[in-house]
Amino acid sequence: MKKRIFSGAQPTGSLHIGNYLGALKNWVALQDEYEAFYCIVNLHAITLPQDPKTLRQKTLDLARIYLAAGVDPEKSTIFIQSDVPEHAELTWVLSCITRMGELERMTQFKDKGKGNTERAGVGLFTYPVLMAADILLYQTDLVPVGQDQKQHLELTRDLAERFNRDFGETFKIPEPYISKAGASIKSLQDPSKKMSKSDDNPNGSIFLLDDADTITKKIKRAVTDSGTAINFDEARPAIANLLSIYQLLTSKTPEECVAHFESKGYGQFKGELAEATTEFLRPFQERIREYDDTTLADILKCGAEKAKHTAAQTLQDVYERVGFRKNPIAKL
Ligand code: TYM
Repeated sequence: MKKRIFSGAQPTGSLHIGNYLGALKNWVALQDEYEAFYCIVNLHAITLPQDPKTLRQKTLDLARIYLAAGVDPEKSTIFIQSDVPEHAELTWVLSCITRMGELERMTQFKDKGKGNTERAGVGLFTYPVLMAADILLYQTDLVPVGQDQKQHLELTRDLAERFNRDFGETFKIPEPYISKAGASIKSLQDPSKKMSKSDDNPNGSIFLLDDADTITKKIKRAVTDSGTAINFDEARPAIANLLSIYQLLTSKTPEECVAHFESKGYGQFKGELAEATTEFLRPFQERIREYDDTTLADILKCGAEKAKHTAAQTLQDVYERVGFRKNPIAKL
């Protein structure tokens, strides 16, 4: 039996090259070796206010992005979180074994709640429990994510261990998969911050649907470090970040990249990076419209059915263990 992967992204804002390099690229690379579930996490999206019409559209757009990035519906299960209600149901059970203190320590809650915990939504607070439910429902072995999700993964493991200890062996303990390169792509405007969908300044991010002109302008405006060397030096985070993007998009080794730019200046480096990014994104953008609406709807329906089959088995097991009766009308 193949080992299992679960991962997901929120259908909010616009996906950027950080989401691709930190997560989607690995999803595609791992889908042959693993049985993969890739979810569009719309329940997570409403932890911050969303316009319903936009959310509906962005949910389908994100499915197209998964497909254009190379997630193959013949190999991987692609589905929308709200189509599988077991996610919300397991969240309730897990929230009853989660401690307030554990959630208070989550750095994403502090960031997204903007320090105003009095006014932050309860959903934003319990968001990591929903993420744990996502992962644990599928008896997941591996979770490919960017660095910013590591703390949520640790909580997921803690909750699984706690449940197994208190109620008997039920959940597999998942491992994070965070590749060294690309795990945290930084903002082009401030390399101390990660590239983020919720950044107010669009110049900090290269979006997957940006056109060639926009990409070139953003890269030209990207901040650099003092000095002239183009290398991977932690003390020069702006250049190291740009070079990482170049390396990952061109699939060269770090040494090849450094050698390639050895006697070149920042101007030429930025020009070549803009070209590599545009070249990489052009075919991706062409593939966005590859599936018509009916085919897309079929892929998502089939994905939800497959996901539900697995999720329902885990949930029934959990219900039985906590002392609920198995749902007499559940169809597994
Ligand atoms: P989200 O939608 O914020 O991001 C999707 C994926 O992109 C990664 N990522 C980055 N990687 C490198 N550099 C960056 N600057 C960068 N920004 C984002 C994220 O780490 C993520 O892997 N809570 C999750 C979605 C989620 C999930 C799950 C993931 C819900 N349930 C279960 C895995 C398993 C989120 O908001 O991702």
